[in-house]
Amino acid sequence: MAEHFHALRVMEIVPETSEANSIRFEVPAELRERFAFRAGQHLTLRATLNGEEVRRNYSLCTAPDEQDWMVTVKRIGGGLFSNWAADALKAGDTLDVMPPHGSFTTDFDETKSRHLVAITGGSGITPVMSLIKTTLKYEPNSRFTLLYGNRDSSSVIFLEALAALKDKYIGRFEIYHFLDAEEQDIELFNGMLNRERLEEAIPALVPDAAEVDGWFICGPGPMMDAAEGALIDRNISKERIHIERFTADRPPEAVSREMAQLQTQAEGVSVAVTLDGRTRRVPFTAGNILDSARASGLPAPFACKAGVCATCRAKVTKGKVEMAARFGLTDEEVAAGYVLTCQSVPLGDGVAVDYDA
Ligand code: FES
Repeated sequence: MAEHFHALRVMEIVPETSEANSIRFEVPAELRERFAFRAGQHLTLRATLNGEEVRRNYSLCTAPDEQDWMVTVKRIGGGLFSNWAADALKAGDTLDVMPPHGSFTTDFDETKSRHLVAITGGSGITPVMSLIKTTLKYEPNSRFTLLYGNRDSSSVIFLEALAALKDKYIGRFEIYHFLDAEEQDIELFNGMLNRERLEEAIPALVPDAAEVDGWFICGPGPMMDAAEGALIDRNISKERIHIERFTADRPPEAVSREMAQLQTQAEGVSVAVTLDGRTRRVPFTAGNILDSARASGLPAPFACKAGVCATCRAKVTKGKVEMAARFGLTDEEVAAGYVLTCQSVPLGDGVAVDYDA
């Protein structure tokens, strides 16, 4: 079944830094199964701000076994939701929350002996925190290395919690802080995690890079591109690189032009949409399958509408579609026929998509 929102009470707001707070939700017993999650997954939050419905994805920083649902929200300049959450949201308020989802995760197994590495910046630490805690606790023979970039030490989210984990799991968890606006003794750690720095940092800090079992990248766009490029150039296979994006760059001009052409051709064709066990034919009227389904009154799920979060994922069961962007899907999902409906245009009549699949 496609997921829906549930009204959850905010139990507590936990200040992390001057710019970031964690929001702890109370999940009632009857919803705990629906809200069970895997380390690295996120929640979609929904609020109506200035008369506009706003949806945002935020990663859970807690580990699945903690029975604690907490996301971390960092204030961003001009950010409608993040500023409202920082200034107005308080304990006792209720927010609409969609159950956890996302593929920025890995299968944990206590018999495994792995080396996992995260390259992260700013609030990108949030899902990584959940992955670190889970790895250290559930895979006693595995180790984790974290390369973490921030402006200065006062802006480091989870600074103390990370240090406590390092003390608790001696020899199995390494943290390297890179600070852009604060001098540290070792030159390598002064500055942003850009491509140049990563080219130096990876061989120095992760000498077994070729054997690392999983790389997790989450943070500002340029940092993620630099990290992905550095790993691919080292011939690290894509299956070992996990990337979590919350925003996307504009698609290249050529892609936008091609999509605009396909949208015009598809105008008015009908698409069969299955949602919550019922199938309806909707006309393609709104530039993509998601918006067309919603324009016809179907409550198809979405959050980012930018091809990154996969909240709008559905399976194509008939016909073909073209996607403008597919950041939120793994290659396996694409091979299995899944698409991001916010990015999809039907190629001809008779396309069928299933949100429940
Ligand atoms: S709504 Fe986020 S990928 Fe479509």
